[in-house]
Amino acid sequence: MQGSDFFETDFQGTGAIMASLHVITHPLIEAKLTRMRDVDTPSAEFRSLLKEISLLMGYEITRDFQMKTIEVQTPIQKGEFPTLKEDFFTIVPILRAGLGMVDGLLELMPFAHVGHIGLVRNEETHMPEEYYYKMPEGFESSVVMVVDPMLATGGSACDALSSLKARGCTNLRLVNLIAAPQGIEAVQQAHPDVDIYVAAVDQGLNDQAYIVPGLGDAGDRVFGTR
Ligand code: PRP
Ligand code: URA
Repeated sequence: MQGSDFFETDFQGTGAIMASLHVITHPLIEAKLTRMRDVDTPSAEFRSLLKEISLLMGYEITRDFQMKTIEVQTPIQKGEFPTLKEDFFTIVPILRAGLGMVDGLLELMPFAHVGHIGLVRNEETHMPEEYYYKMPEGFESSVVMVVDPMLATGGSACDALSSLKARGCTNLRLVNLIAAPQGIEAVQQAHPDVDIYVAAVDQGLNDQAYIVPGLGDAGDRVFGTR
């Protein structure tokens, strides 16, 4: 991996320290994302690309996972070797589009648990409404990765993060494919403790609160509903 660029962003110039924004840059991620943006890319390919990018982003999202040392007998000799300190991680897709990111991350972390939050933006107010919530037992003390391809106004992400915090979660990170500056700012204002990982920061939002240039409606493109 080429790694990720860190920004302790301060969009409002308040000087307050915000959680880090990690813009994950890599030639494969960028090329695949460009293909996803193309209006002519069919759903089947869009889904595969989303899965592949999620897996690639996974390397950076997990970079700071805590480690411990264990004793292992190799065919040659015994030694002390690094392994993950925790064995409980939770991936939380925001339905629907977030589902498209789960398989790629599970390929990387097959031991992870998956919880679901169903949110849909009201098409007139653009405000999210929760319609589903189901988490794995005991997930509150795990590292929780909230995933959704699009961070537009930030309303859905902020609601999902608040809902998880209200249920006792303290170790949260947010993973998006494309973010608008407005969405990043909204999350950083409401949840300054949550690191955000994105593959691209786009120009802004149009009057329908869609990301510009973006890739359109992620849920519709993943599931071929429009
Ligand atoms: C999309 C997207 C995010 C949300 C982003 O979902 O997947 O969840 O919009 O917008 P926001 O940052 O302004 O809240 P949508 O509500 O369209 O539901 P869907 O995934 O079921 O299509
Ligand atoms: N939701 C999407 O799917 N796309 C956008 O650009 C904004 C919200």
